[in-house]
Amino acid sequence: MAQAWRRLFVVGALIGLSVTDAWAQPPAAPPTFTRDVAPILQAKCESCHRANSIAPMSLVTFEETRPWARSIRARVAARQMPPWHIDKTVGIQRFANDRSLADREIDTIVNWVNAGAPRGNLKDMPPRLQWPEQPAWNYAAVFGEPDLVVKSPAYTQKAAAQDAWYKPVVPTGLTEARWVRAIEIRPSTVKGRRITHHALARLRQDEPKEQASNDEDEDAGPGLFMEWAVGKQGEVMRPDSGKLMLPGSQIVFDIHYHAVGEDITDSIELAIYFYPKGQEPKHRQVLGLFHAINGGSRGLDIPPNSVTTHQGVFVMKRAGRIENFQPHMHLRGRGMMMEAILPTGATEVLSLVSNYQFNWHNNYVYADEVAPLLPKGTVLRFTSWHDNTKENPDNPDPTQWVGWGDRTVDEMAHAWVNITYLTDEELKEEQEKRKAVTSTAVQPQ
Ligand code: HEC
Repeated sequence: MAQAWRRLFVVGALIGLSVTDAWAQPPAAPPTFTRDVAPILQAKCESCHRANSIAPMSLVTFEETRPWARSIRARVAARQMPPWHIDKTVGIQRFANDRSLADREIDTIVNWVNAGAPRGNLKDMPPRLQWPEQPAWNYAAVFGEPDLVVKSPAYTQKAAAQDAWYKPVVPTGLTEARWVRAIEIRPSTVKGRRITHHALARLRQDEPKEQASNDEDEDAGPGLFMEWAVGKQGEVMRPDSGKLMLPGSQIVFDIHYHAVGEDITDSIELAIYFYPKGQEPKHRQVLGLFHAINGGSRGLDIPPNSVTTHQGVFVMKRAGRIENFQPHMHLRGRGMMMEAILPTGATEVLSLVSNYQFNWHNNYVYADEVAPLLPKGTVLRFTSWHDNTKENPDNPDPTQWVGWGDRTVDEMAHAWVNITYLTDEELKEEQEKRKAVTSTAVQPQ
């Protein structure tokens, strides 16, 4: 309805008619904090913007939020907050963990700020959300407390020190094979988050290797187990799929610490939730690192004052379901795309992040009904763009040549992607199941 009115006004303006009062809609009351804005902040912001969480300020009460109104308008309108930087115009658009704002939520926030950020009637304020005391595990509410927690030894990052890469190996203590249905990983303290640039956890265990990605260093076997960076905390496996841990397995941590002007001691905690015995899943998920660079890490070549494009490919030797897309780049990273080239020659964009923000490592997890089902022989093609010009506000020095490396001032370009491998028959079954669902379901708008 509102749309139709807007169109009338536009048409009126175009053909030079003046819009009469009779046509005009009654002016809508401006949004208020208590009635319109607080529910959005509770649903989309408080998980990070509350006391003792990861964001710099709390957005729980009107008094806390009001001073940030202009900054909130800017970040929300630019779709930088909440951190969700997938391109909304191309590729798959349904995700299991979408935390972005709907257009109308953005309008509400922007109109509220434009109207002077009024508080509104106190009676409209929704009840305060109850957040668990830190530190609590997120998935404990779903699965109960984790079955196993593996901790890296405590490490102290000095106030002023070079970046450090800490790689302790910790036994899991498992004496029998178990299937994993969810994993969480985090620095053990709020302060620890500040020094932790990222943390990887590899699973080391005795089994035959298989090349599961285009990473030259990776002969995967179990593949990478879990990866942590700001914006990501854990993952839940899709129904009937999991990761297999064998007796005697070890976790090989790979933690990147950086100094923040204060001595901070922390350790990384990895929480593992098993499938109950007797409920083992049918499919195994493998997390791989896929370079968006031809020739792997050595192929990255970013001359001074330039915008570059690199590409990497991976041929799927078995059919599979692509579970997620998680691009990883540093300060010059501008965007990354994942495409599937099917054996028919047809090419499909699966996902594009066109507004990459280097301090957000979002993991875009596809919703069940759209996670791509791809036949054997599909080529996964990854394209990355870096901006090493002065137009990039995060660029520390556009006169430097930049290549691949671990430091934040070096670059990378890869995606972390979980693939659940399927036999050709299983792929067909999954495709049939999906067809049945989409033909009976109400068509999405
Ligand atoms: C996943 C966690 C997370 C969510 C969800 C989130 N934020 Fe943030 N926000 C952060 C962090 C961390 C920062 C500081 C780093 C940065 O700016 O990226 C931040 C920064 C900001 C800033 C800039 C503050 C400044 O210094 O100027 C604003 C404004 C903001 N957030 C608003 C919001 C709003 C509004 C929402 C919800 C609609 C939201 N954020 C959702 C984590 C989050």
